[in-house]
Amino acid sequence: MSLSEMHPTGRKVILHMVSSLDGYIAKKDNSVSWLENAGTVYEDGVSISEEEAAAFVKTIDCYVMGSRTYEHALELGWPYGDTPAVVVTGRKWPPSRKSVEFYSGDLKTLVDLKLAPRFRNIWLVGGAMLCGRFLELGLVDEIILTIAPVVLGEGLRLFGGSLQQQAWSLKNVVAYKNGFVELSYAERR
Ligand SMILES: NC(=O)c1ccc[n+]([C@@H]2O[C@H](COP(=O)([O-])OP(=O)(O)OC[C@H]3O[C@@H](n4cnc5c(N)ncnc54)[C@H](OP(=O)(O)O)[C@@H]3O)[C@@H](O)[C@H]2O)c1
Repeated sequence: MSLSEMHPTGRKVILHMVSSLDGYIAKKDNSVSWLENAGTVYEDGVSISEEEAAAFVKTIDCYVMGSRTYEHALELGWPYGDTPAVVVTGRKWPPSRKSVEFYSGDLKTLVDLKLAPRFRNIWLVGGAMLCGRFLELGLVDEIILTIAPVVLGEGLRLFGGSLQQQAWSLKNVVAYKNGFVELSYAERR
């Protein structure tokens, strides 16, 4: 990460989502088979090994998610390991995994006062509602959008809320052998 990409406080909030070609992040029935490898091979694409993926995940200091994403992640078997995770919710929840804490309140306070002093590489992993709110409040430093090679036709739109136009700068594009494409954008300051 270059100094120019870093927030003045040193923290970096990275929004990461996977979208279909038609801009959906979840099907109505919440099934996730569309996120799996379609089986086709894009010859010019790259692939990453499980070791490389595991090493990359270790660079993430903290995950942030909305309560509906949390519920779905629990159903799927919790893909976030023991990395600290903050679940944004207005509800009371029974104690969960040690690495999980619940937060209710102002999102700027969450980022600036609760997360920034403890974490640098903060990954916002959904869902549509919470990501939309983070974008509205200008709390996202980088967007990583992975496009899956599928049209869903219906489902939950990428970002919730009523966003105003925002300009972002393309920083990187990675095409994978499995047909997924990862687009990275930085906030234009
Ligand atoms: N394709 C992908 O990359 C991807 C990634 C993540 C999730 N998903 C999918 O997206 C769906 C969930 O997304 P979603 O948009 O429905 O829900 P979400 O953003 O995960 O969670 C919404 C909930 O978060 C809490 N919340 C959000 N903003 C808040 C705020 N400002 N203050 C306090 N609490 C706030 C509220 O919880 P309470 O109601 O508890 O108060 C709200 O109901 C799931 O189907 C999931 O599988 C897909």
